[in-house]
Amino acid sequence: MHGLHALAYYSNPTFAVTPETIEIEVREILRESRVRNRQDGLTGALFFDHRYFLQVLEGDRTALSATLGRVWRNPLHENLVIIGMEPISERAFGEWSLGYLNPDATSASIVNEFAGGGPFEPSRLSTVSTVQMITKLVENAKLAA
Ligand SMILES: Cc1cc2nc3c(=O)[nH]c(=O)nc-3n(C[C@H](O)[C@H](O)[C@H](O)COP(=O)(O)O)c2cc1C
Repeated sequence: MHGLHALAYYSNPTFAVTPETIEIEVREILRESRVRNRQDGLTGALFFDHRYFLQVLEGDRTALSATLGRVWRNPLHENLVIIGMEPISERAFGEWSLGYLNPDATSASIVNEFAGGGPFEPSRLSTVSTVQMITKLVENAKLAA
């Protein structure tokens, strides 16, 4: 064990985003990721605003690094930028092997809050603010569910 860490990154989809490709490509990403994350003891959430994937994963640092290698090689996205990997004292996404967050009206206002008024630009986020933003989005999704 190398201790509990949170990893955050963002990337751009390589596929043309339509309701059909979201249904096919994103569903497949989630299906295989959830199986792997359960095996690897990882939890997290994926936000996709149709321009950016923004993902937080938490778990053992070694497992996170191995997963990142596989994520990096996946041709469904590109321009992957690591926001950071930080030690954490407890999990924020304890029940979710990989929650999926769709954009909606409330999530847009949460994203706006973190974007500082301008268009959402994940390059402005730190690991901690990414975890905070995704946690808020998860709470919003739970309320909406
Ligand atoms: C945006 C995105 C997020 C992903 N998230 C994860 C993840 O959380 N865990 C994971 O194991 N794989 C994730 N993957 C899938 C990996 O790229 C890879 O396809 C999967 O881990 C299976 O790898 P394997 O074929 O080498 O077993 C993600 C892929 C993309 C494009």
